[in-house]
Amino acid sequence: MLKHGIAAALLALAPALASAQTAMKNVDAEGHPWWRHAVFYEVYPRSFADSNNDGIGDLNGIASKTGYLKALGVDAIWITPCFPSPQKDFGYDVADYQNIDPMYGTLADFDRLSAQAKQDHIRIILDFVINHTSDQNKWFLESRSSKTSPYRNWYVWHDAKPGGQPPNNWESDFGGPAWTFDQKTGQYYYHYFEAAQPDLNWRNPAVEKAMFDATRFWYRRGVSGFRLDAVDTLFEDPQLRDNPFKTNSDGTKEMINKYNDKLPQNHEVLRRLRKVADESNAVLIGETWTENINQLHEYYGPHDDEIQMPMDFLFTTINVLSASKFRTQINQAESSGEWPVWVITNHDMTRSYNRYGDGKHNDEIAKLMAGMYLTLRGTPIMYYGEELGMENNDPKRKEDVLDPLGKNNWPQNKGRDGERTPMQWNTSANAGFTTGKPWLPVPASYKTHNVETELKDPNSILNFYKRLLALRHTNEALIEGDFTSLNNSDPNVLAYLRSYKGKSVLVALNMSASPQKVDLDLSKQGESMRHLNTLLATPSAARNVSAKGMTLAPFAVYIAETGK
Ligand code: NOJ
Repeated sequence: MLKHGIAAALLALAPALASAQTAMKNVDAEGHPWWRHAVFYEVYPRSFADSNNDGIGDLNGIASKTGYLKALGVDAIWITPCFPSPQKDFGYDVADYQNIDPMYGTLADFDRLSAQAKQDHIRIILDFVINHTSDQNKWFLESRSSKTSPYRNWYVWHDAKPGGQPPNNWESDFGGPAWTFDQKTGQYYYHYFEAAQPDLNWRNPAVEKAMFDATRFWYRRGVSGFRLDAVDTLFEDPQLRDNPFKTNSDGTKEMINKYNDKLPQNHEVLRRLRKVADESNAVLIGETWTENINQLHEYYGPHDDEIQMPMDFLFTTINVLSASKFRTQINQAESSGEWPVWVITNHDMTRSYNRYGDGKHNDEIAKLMAGMYLTLRGTPIMYYGEELGMENNDPKRKEDVLDPLGKNNWPQNKGRDGERTPMQWNTSANAGFTTGKPWLPVPASYKTHNVETELKDPNSILNFYKRLLALRHTNEALIEGDFTSLNNSDPNVLAYLRSYKGKSVLVALNMSASPQKVDLDLSKQGESMRHLNTLLATPSAARNVSAKGMTLAPFAVYIAETGK
């Protein structure tokens, strides 16, 4: 009955789907691929919307909110892992790459979500946990069953050193050694993350084939791409040499992952993975933790044949509200000539509301951050709840921590639970996320920072995001325009021009708590300040606007079309 109901509903959707598909073109009239102009939005499925009130979000919950996302101005959602998993690392430990975890629903629910999203012109990106699996994945269970198992070589096994010590000094990113001894077969296996997340052996072609096939499975189901998890660490030094250490300025020693991070072979796999993606016009987004802009540049591939959208974490990890620091990084990204990817937070880092907020003007600063990363040249990836000013809710006691990173490193590192709390939909209990007990508690600020309340307030962060995203989708200079940095020595105001086909938009952002007078001379750019046409601004953003400049209010966002 139920199956029949779903099939009938899908049939009823068919004409709408057809027209939506036509609307969702892969390239625009000028040949730009769709993802260049899309706004991406990261959904943490455990925390977005709980349709069955078990305290954990699910796919039907996400499907019920595509209308909200459409109205917000989102073009693609990246759903963090929703595959079967023991949830040791909340889904980043995948037991089966070609199914949905029952806590999130079924494959049929996924198809329903996909159809619903298409109707709302929203594409779906899944998370590809490419570096490691769960220790409960059947491949690993086979692999650890015996030294002669055909799956033994799917993972990285090695004998102990004489004396029984691990093969080398490598450390797990989550704390402790990166090797775990397996009693049954008497060897160590390697895991860059938790012991429950053994690393795949990417030198084995059978691994590559199985993993590439997993992406094909989802492309056939209509997904538009993947976010590649931990893509830096696919390969290990064949000689398993010890990593060196560096001495930090405070005298502490830190391991440099010379022999297990960013080995050149990564790029060969990425080029082949890209070929598979290209067969489906799909996009690859990289979790690319690079130390400098050259490393980031390499991830695009020598012929733009690797990752189309490697995230620029050099930008994301600027932890102070500093016009100079942001300008330096933006200019570096610009000078590399690629199409940048801008992120201000995600499920692994403290929310931007807390990282950039000063405790007094956090709402203004939230709008200011939006004013920056949504008007730069490049593709932005939002994190759910950022549009509301959701804040971190860190656990107060070790016994409340769920995240393994926090459990292993408390209290120096409280883990990532704080930034993964339920989406704040309204003022009812648990912010309207569930009527059950939510898997993580919502912060008290949900009473004011939630969708329903903010929709009613024209001055809310949410309405600012909506206006900004609407502008971004319709203004050609903001969509595709060149970027010119202005007033490069101003320590307080970040200002730039975006220009396309003879039209320019000025963006001026006051990153300080005091009014700032800015002198702007656009004559070199062939533009004039004389006939500014304000497109979007925070209340009383600019005064004394003249042909030479203006005074910007504290934390002001000012966006205007320039004249000739
Ligand atoms: C990066 C993911 O974003 C993070 O949440 C996860 O713990 C690690 N990769 C391991 O998969």
